[in-house]
Order: sequence, then structure tokens, then C-alpha cells
Amino acid sequence: DKGNFRHFMAKEIYEQPEVISHTLANYIDMATETVRLPEDLPFDFSQLKRITICACGTAYYAGLVGKYWMEKYARLPVDIDVASEFRYREVPLEEGGLAIFISQSGETADTLASLRYCDSQGQHILSIVNVRESTIARESGTVFPTLAGPEIGVASTKAFTCQLTVLACLAIAAGRQRGILAESDERKLVHALVEVPRLATQALKLEPQIEDIARDLSRARDVLYLGRGLNYPLALEGALKLKEISYIHAEGYAAGELKHGPIALIDENVPVIVVSPSDSLFDKTISNMQEVAARGGNIILLTDEDGAQASGDQPQATLVLPKMFQFVQPLIYAIPVQLLAYHTAVFMGTDVDQPRNLAKSVTVE
Ligand code: M6R
Repeated sequence: DKGNFRHFMAKEIYEQPEVISHTLANYIDMATETVRLPEDLPFDFSQLKRITICACGTAYYAGLVGKYWMEKYARLPVDIDVASEFRYREVPLEEGGLAIFISQSGETADTLASLRYCDSQGQHILSIVNVRESTIARESGTVFPTLAGPEIGVASTKAFTCQLTVLACLAIAAGRQRGILAESDERKLVHALVEVPRLATQALKLEPQIEDIARDLSRARDVLYLGRGLNYPLALEGALKLKEISYIHAEGYAAGELKHGPIALIDENVPVIVVSPSDSLFDKTISNMQEVAARGGNIILLTDEDGAQASGDQPQATLVLPKMFQFVQPLIYAIPVQLLAYHTAVFMGTDVDQPRNLAKSVTVE
């Protein structure tokens, strides 16, 4: 049931404050502001030398954010790959390592094959899945469910932010077990997570402005997304979402890679969406933005109040999000990124919930 929404995708975007809240409640002890791990976890993060993460599509981008978090907050090296490559790579793995699989459906063929390979190599198997009765969940030693509820739209939205929520909790728990995060650090990070549903609700209020921007975007043939650090995976996710449902060609790039090639594409016909909150990497990304502006590119900037001030009149449009702790940025910036793709697709008149050539769960190789 779509309720009052025109598409399942819109409904699912709007459900995010609530489902993130549910997911958080499953992993966080609100009274002590700490992450709660199952008692019978068969591994200890302090014993691990590295982690392998494997997934496809949007779930892979969630994993990429997870890698940045694990490295920064738990000082734990992470290898990540798309499952369709990982499964054929004959990756050497040290016995007793941890492999994490992320999947909304829990039925993605390549992700499952990668899981079985890691299992055969003596890894602990942890899966982050939305469908609890799925094959991936069944074959995992440990399951960390996302509590997103059924996701009907082919374009993944709420499952993505719930995957991020679980990965954020895991990174905090890992940081604690490895002695990287002190009690007060953990509380600070958990506190930032608890604020996410409220910030997400605020981000949803940008919708009317996003609709205006989407009207222009729907006339583009190619769109570029740029982001750095934690926002790089979001640039990838933004481009995937846009091409999936609007059929407009889009590419996501690490902002620093711009000058290594894609800048050749920039002219007044290629909108460039820059995801750049005013954090420690802001200045770097803004100088990439200036390179785009100098070539006549039309910039759409996703930032906060300080970022908007600092970028002056260079962007053609600016979406101003609330100021937040860097740690939780991907969870909140995901929302305008999803809404931009959604409204562009609506202007194009495509079948938003059932885009051509795509299936909700990819059970073929
Ligand atoms: O069910 P899964 O999370 O394993 O699916 C992975 C991808 O097929 C999925 O995320 C796909 O990329 C979505 N259509 C993205 O919106």
C-alpha cells in the first residue's frame, strides 16, 4: 500500500526517520548511549587483523561508507569489493577472519557465492540483511538485521540508510573492543546517531527546492556527481540512483579524480552535483568545484549553512542541510540525493518503482 504517496519509492524515502530509529533501537542502549552487541558473537574485533566486505549495487556503496568508518573509528583495515568480482578473484584469506555481506534481499546470487567462498576459507560470516528469512541470512553465522521493513521500489532507499545505521554501530563497537574509542568517544558517536532521525526529517523538508532542481536536471543528458571521503560513496550512489530510474547517464567520481579525466566532459550542458558538507575536506572539494565553474559547468551544491556561505555565488543551486557531526553525514545526505533522482524520474515520466531492465532481487549471475 502506497498510502498517500504516488510511488513506493517516495513512501520509502519518507519512512527513513522511522526505520532508522527502529534499527538504532535494536543496536543501541539509549540509557547508557552505548552500542549493544549480541553476547554470543563468535569473534572479537580486538583479535581481527582485517575485515572483508562484499556486496552489490547500493549495498556495496553502504559497505564503502562502512570501510571509511571502520578505518577511522576502529583503526581496522577493510578490503571491499563488489561480489561479482570478489567471487572470482581467489582472494587469499587468513583463517578466522571476518567477512561481512550486505544485502537488502538476502538473495543476490553473486553476494551469496562470495559468502560461500569465505565460509569455505574459514571466515566468520556476518550478514547485514533486510529480509530475515533469506538465503544469505540462513547461511550466515551472525545476522545483523536492518529493520527497514519491506522495500518494494526497485531503487533501494531506506534499506541503504538502515545498512549505514548498522555499519555505524558496528564501527563504534569495533572501536570500543579495539581500545580505540574511549567511553566518552563512544557516547559522542552514539549520541550523533540518535540525532539522525530528527536530522533526516529536516532533510526531507528540502523536497520543494529539490523538485525545482530536478526539473532542470531532467533536461540533462549526462550528470556528474562529486564527493570526497565519506561523501564519495554518496556520489556513486547518487549517480546509480539517477541512472536507474530516470535513465539519464550519470557518473559518480571522487572529487579529487576530476582532474584525472572527467573534467574533459565539463561544459554548460553537464550539471555537476557536489556533495560537500563543511567538514575537514570541504576546502579541497570546493577547489574542485571552482575548476568546474571555471569551465562553465552548472553546479548543484549539497552542503550546510557554512558551506553555502563559503561557496559564494558559484553554484547554480544550493541545498542547505543542517550542520551535523561528520560521522553521520552519509546518513543524512543520502536523502536529498534520493529525492533528486526521484523527482527527476517523475519529470521524465518513467516507471519509478519498476524501471526497465531491472529486478528487485538479482538472483542470476
Ligand atoms: O538485495 P541486494 O541489496 O543484495 O541488492 C543489491 C543490488 O542489486 C541493489 O542494491 C541495486 O543496485 C538497487 N537496484 C540499487 O537501487
